[in-house]
Amino acid sequence: MQKAPVARRLGCNQARRLGPGARYPRETGPRLRGWNKLDDDHVTTDVTTLDVQSRFGALVERLDDCRRFTEALAAPLSAEDQTVQSMPDTSPTKWHRAHTTWFFETFLLQPHLAGYEAFDGHFGFLFNSYYEAVGDRHPRPDRGMVTRPGIVEIADYRRHVDEALATLLEAAGDDEPDRRDHLADLVELGINHEQQHQELLLMDIKHVLANNVYGPGYAVLDHEPLPEPGPAGWISVDGGLVEIGVEVSDRGFRFDNEEPRHRALLHPHRLADRLVTCGEWLEFMADGGYGEPRLWLSDGWYARAAQGWTAPLYWTKTDDEQWMIHTLTGRRPVDPHEPLCHVSFYEADAFATWAGARLPTEFEWEHAATDLRHGVGTLLDQATVDGTPVVSPSNELHPTGAGPAEAGVLRQLIGDCWEWTGSPYRPYPGYQVPDGAIGEYNGKFMINTMVLRGGCALTPNDHLRTTYRNFFHPHTRWHLSGVRLAAD
Ligand SMILES: [Fe+2]
Repeated sequence: MQKAPVARRLGCNQARRLGPGARYPRETGPRLRGWNKLDDDHVTTDVTTLDVQSRFGALVERLDDCRRFTEALAAPLSAEDQTVQSMPDTSPTKWHRAHTTWFFETFLLQPHLAGYEAFDGHFGFLFNSYYEAVGDRHPRPDRGMVTRPGIVEIADYRRHVDEALATLLEAAGDDEPDRRDHLADLVELGINHEQQHQELLLMDIKHVLANNVYGPGYAVLDHEPLPEPGPAGWISVDGGLVEIGVEVSDRGFRFDNEEPRHRALLHPHRLADRLVTCGEWLEFMADGGYGEPRLWLSDGWYARAAQGWTAPLYWTKTDDEQWMIHTLTGRRPVDPHEPLCHVSFYEADAFATWAGARLPTEFEWEHAATDLRHGVGTLLDQATVDGTPVVSPSNELHPTGAGPAEAGVLRQLIGDCWEWTGSPYRPYPGYQVPDGAIGEYNGKFMINTMVLRGGCALTPNDHLRTTYRNFFHPHTRWHLSGVRLAAD
């Protein structure tokens, strides 16, 4: 049986607007905050109307933007900041910069650029993440011990690979269509891979800086207290068979874990029209939520005890009983009206039980994102300063308030916080692991993890689709994970 390619050419999903796989396109300037009825400014041109050369050219330009944006994210950080690894789950900033470069070198340059010379023969060992088929690698928990190469040498490595990529892609523009399309597939996968690491870079440096007793921020921006969002409303959704995932034959980029399109049965249910707030989480805590075993799954109860959880990650209490939160803009008081984030699946599930509700399934979530009106909260937007892509200076790099309720609208469904679902991360019916080393990208992680949906304030805003499946172990909390309630 023929297997599907991992990545597909820059596609035309956008033309279907809210159809399966719809993407949330990049926007500069004011933060995206609207409904899912995308206006014309938000609709990327259907690339089927572009000639092949233009499509390839657009991808090359996007690659350049992506590579420079990673460097812009690292720019505020010192060599010391970029070297520390604060726990085994996190990686140093400079490792992210090098690993994303290694990905292009390994999967694009070495197999496809004749005469390409690796920048350093040791880097394959140092910056391979988990690809068994590619060879041995440095132990993940020890990435913070790699003081050499330093950040200057890693910048040189990135330049070396960028120049070679430019050489390869310039020549490929005149290649036969099949080879050019194959290279385009790999470039697009590399871009999306690097965007995932842009989010990880920010998640990880947040953890590093939170471990500094003085609570420094990554960026400087004051938090404006948010207005009271009012009680969450419920939106009722009919049951029935719904279509989930991406058809293998569809064009447009997606990860292999979003395939194939298939049917799922939904029962009638309700979805909360906004995310849970910190104020509501404080009520859970005040009611003894962290100490009531009847609210918790068994594994969660023991994880809570082993980890000493009494509050979300990054929450600390002052001597005068004020809850503080560490954010990428520094430590400040918890705002009761902001979305709750940095909780594990176990905590999210316990909260839902306490609230007399449950977490949505990933199929309920995707159906809502595809068929119902929903809001777009904060994503990692980009601005351009002197031709360089940078984080928009008005971005708090943190989830923001729900905004006013509107009848029938699911606020914050996209952006702000990744939403824990009650669905285990497993292959869709008919899923096939892609051939070769790249088959290790997703498939081998489809066990002991739970699916999160919707993106967060650190997700690049042209990286998401309604079919996008994120996944983490149920005990992890350093990602921007929040809670939307569901009920039967
Ligand atoms: Fe990676």
